[in-house]
Amino acid sequence: MALATVTPPWAYTLQLPQDPRGPGIARATLRTVLLVHGMRDLIDTAELLASELVTNAYRYSSAPYSLRLRGAGRDRVRVGVWDSNPEIPAPFGGCAVGGPSVLAERGRGLQLVRECAESWGAYPIRGGLPGQGGKVLWVECTAPRNP
Ligand SMILES: Nc1ncnc2c1ncn2[C@@H]1O[C@H](COP(=O)(O)OP(=O)(O)O)[C@@H](O)[C@H]1O
Ligand SMILES: [Mg+2]
Repeated sequence: MALATVTPPWAYTLQLPQDPRGPGIARATLRTVLLVHGMRDLIDTAELLASELVTNAYRYSSAPYSLRLRGAGRDRVRVGVWDSNPEIPAPFGGCAVGGPSVLAERGRGLQLVRECAESWGAYPIRGGLPGQGGKVLWVECTAPRNP
């Protein structure tokens, strides 16, 4: 029996609790979604990008956060991570000057994300009700081209 298929755009949203297992569950969910939608070539890069963003959302906010995956064409996926902390980190806010210092132990994750993503950005979410406010950091990645 042929599987019913959903052609892009498709989207999934995963709500995550403030729990150290959240980023791992987000990675496993992303792998399943991309595999099922025939985007195997995108899995490694998308997992790296999403992992950095959800780990930051867990670490730098104090409330539940969410991962959104959206197919954007046959070989492109958009990963968005919302969290309740309104601060947009410097590497995604356009005001970063240079990267972390050579000896810095931290602060390389978002630089790596910017370099590995096809495109990236951030925007604030306005609103005063619970579940609103905060910001979204997003990235898009595409499958590597075959030579
Ligand atoms: N979701 C976020 N909300 C608020 N601040 C963040 C968020 N993600 C990252 N930051 C800030 O940006 C800095 C750089 O993040 P990153 O490059 O991932 O490095 P690291 O996580 O190792 O500190 C963090 O130290 C933190 O101050
Ligand atoms: Mg980080």
